[in-house]
Amino acid sequence: LKRSNGSGKLGLCLVGCGFMGQRHLQGYAALERAGLLRADLVAVLDLDPSAAERLAIEAEELLGRRPTVHAELAALLDDPAVQALDLVTDPRTHHTIAAPALEAGLHVLSEKPLALTVRAARTMIDAAEKGGAILATAENYRRGGANRTARAVVDSGMLGDLHLMVEHIVGGSDEVIISRWRHLKESGAISLDMGCHLIDIVEYYLGPLASAYGRGFIAEPIRRDSKNGTILDATGDDSLIALLRTESGVDVQFAYLPSGPGESYVRRTLHGRAGSMIVPPDRSDGEVVVHTGEGTLQGAALRAALGDHLVLDEVTQALLGPEGSGGKGASFATVDAGYLGVEIADFVAAALDGSAPEVDGMGGLRAMAGVYAIVESGLQGRPVAIDEILDGSAHAYQDDIDVALETIS
Ligand SMILES: NC(=O)c1ccc[n+]([C@@H]2O[C@H](COP(=O)([O-])OP(=O)(O)OC[C@H]3O[C@@H](n4cnc5c(N)ncnc54)[C@H](O)[C@@H]3O)[C@@H](O)[C@H]2O)c1
Repeated sequence: LKRSNGSGKLGLCLVGCGFMGQRHLQGYAALERAGLLRADLVAVLDLDPSAAERLAIEAEELLGRRPTVHAELAALLDDPAVQALDLVTDPRTHHTIAAPALEAGLHVLSEKPLALTVRAARTMIDAAEKGGAILATAENYRRGGANRTARAVVDSGMLGDLHLMVEHIVGGSDEVIISRWRHLKESGAISLDMGCHLIDIVEYYLGPLASAYGRGFIAEPIRRDSKNGTILDATGDDSLIALLRTESGVDVQFAYLPSGPGESYVRRTLHGRAGSMIVPPDRSDGEVVVHTGEGTLQGAALRAALGDHLVLDEVTQALLGPEGSGGKGASFATVDAGYLGVEIADFVAAALDGSAPEVDGMGGLRAMAGVYAIVESGLQGRPVAIDEILDGSAHAYQDDIDVALETIS
């Protein structure tokens, strides 16, 4: 470690004490209860002093130590007690906070989407390299038992040659989804916010995506904010529909469409020559079910058939139980804190031990690139290669976001 606080633990500052910042704190608390927290939450930072204060009070209750409260980044960069940032601000600000911190040698765990544009994400990746610091992306969905099991099914070859993955979240209303900024293009549209999670899962199962043919669009142009009785004119895409293709030649039917009364469903399935797999909704206590010519496998029988392909690490088992699901009927709060604890522990280990984080900056950027390949395909009316997004040659949709972020002039 470049900086040391003498405790052998990683001195961390939680930056962004809103909706998700509070949930990250529950991840730290789950690790602390399990005796597996290798970090000290020494500071919290938010532009909103009341949000930071509330989180400091909760942190003291849960972790037994009150973090110092800050409203500005600059002071933290020179504080030797702070060795890393857990960055949970809204995505418009990720690069402006992470890049100077990484250059100063602080390790950063950034929430997804890693940034709002490829250019902004690149400033983070470049800064990490310059500062010799670790940049990890907080991609939580893959960390629990169901997705670990699904990946093990793929690795085992049980499904034979793979042909098709179906990744659908369909149905919703015209209500604002979580927060107003998630409907404004220049602060991070919900299609990017959710699409990143889903693309990460696709690449986690099947390896790198090659291309996308589809479109992004606004299905609900006017969103109702019933918390305060107002309406909002959406400027950012809320929906994505596409056919994706992996480098290994698997086609993925992809739909994120949080709109429309009536039919509403979540579906993740994988289809191969020798079998098919149904994966339960993320962070639910459902089971992965595999059908092959020889019958149906799930639960203990599936785990036995997977053998060494499925190994849950110590942290996952401690926080989420032997199956990594939190157990039957576990509350969302428990399961969520478990997933976040696993992701935080992975980052802390990377920072302390020099190991690679499971999802690094490039992993976070690839998930964004998958979403932007879909959106760009819609604008250009042709399949778009992920590489065109990564190298910046296809960027029309992001241009006005980059202007607003001042990442291009
Ligand atoms: N992985 C998941 O399951 C998941 C779920 C929800 C949110 N998220 C991600 O977490 C991040 C935060 O989302 P949220 O819902 O908590 O947003 P939010 O709007 O509730 O909270 C953001 C907080 O950051 C603070 N902030 C903004 N700019 C800042 C700055 N420059 N310096 C310090 N503080 C600043 C705000 O005051 C606010 O308290 C987003 O990237 C979002 O995509 C991830």
